[in-house]
Amino acid sequence: MKTPLSRLGNSGLETSLLGLGTVKFGRNAGVKYPSAFELPDDKSLASLLSLAADLGINVLDTAPAYGSSEERLGQLLKGQRHDWIISTKTGETFDGKNSAFDFSAEATRQSVERSLKRLKTDYLDIVMVHSDGNDLELIERNEVIATLDQLKQEGKIRQTGFSGKTLEGALAALKQVDMLMLTYNLREHREGEAIDQANHLGKGVYIKKAFASGHLVSGSGEEGQLSSFRHILGKAGISSIIVGTINPDHLKQNVRALCQASAGMV
Ligand SMILES: NC(=O)c1ccc[n+]([C@@H]2O[C@H](COP(=O)([O-])OP(=O)(O)OC[C@H]3O[C@@H](n4cnc5c(N)ncnc54)[C@H](OP(=O)(O)O)[C@@H]3O)[C@@H](O)[C@H]2O)c1
Repeated sequence: MKTPLSRLGNSGLETSLLGLGTVKFGRNAGVKYPSAFELPDDKSLASLLSLAADLGINVLDTAPAYGSSEERLGQLLKGQRHDWIISTKTGETFDGKNSAFDFSAEATRQSVERSLKRLKTDYLDIVMVHSDGNDLELIERNEVIATLDQLKQEGKIRQTGFSGKTLEGALAALKQVDMLMLTYNLREHREGEAIDQANHLGKGVYIKKAFASGHLVSGSGEEGQLSSFRHILGKAGISSIIVGTINPDHLKQNVRALCQASAGMV
């Protein structure tokens, strides 16, 4: 069983329709998951990544705000960097208790350089703006997107992106970046129109919080996964549904459910 493939808009990158979100690789404080958890050890993460690869997953999503996630991925992916499409973000950092935001040109450049170092690579497939929620204001008042464009010109980034919290922000960002990450699930449809627009423009779309951070699937058997994926795939143009998990059985279930949901659709 393998996850179906999709593409990142017109970028030429082939993405697995299921991607792996890595918040839980590096951060267990200040998160909104249904239950508390310990960070997995290196051995469990290495075997989870190997399982993901066996299941045809090639998309990993991380961020500087996910605690040690970037650093751990850098260690764990030694020798296999080129097998993965890695997205990270810029704008938010987390010190273990609080988040801080900086969308200035200088902070953006420093953040990307730090991600390159932590991920032990000389290019990042995607760097997205990690919005603080004030999407429009941060797009209008800051140089973050222009700086990401420069870093793309320099060959350090392949695609620029925006991960925000509002439809207005997603639509405004779409005019300036290569791809979007947005929330779209059975409970939350507000950004759905931006998926249609991105598809129309040939730009990639990553879905975050497909299971509403786990609240749509806890205790639902496999029905919750299946109905969540069916709902999302009702939209054309989805590049990858980024589900966060540190549980190998859940990863297998998710691939199974996605194969079932996408049969005849992608
Ligand atoms: N602002 C942003 O840019 C932003 C914000 C949020 C998320 N993201 C990205 O999107 C990714 C996904 O979002 P998310 O992690 O918040 O939420 P999510 O993918 O909707 O849900 C993750 C939760 O669902 C659970 N889960 C996964 N598969 C399951 C299954 N088959 N059965 C039962 N439970 C299951 C996971 O627990 P187990 O570990 O036990 O499986 C985890 O607690 C993140 O990891 C991150 O990469 C980005």
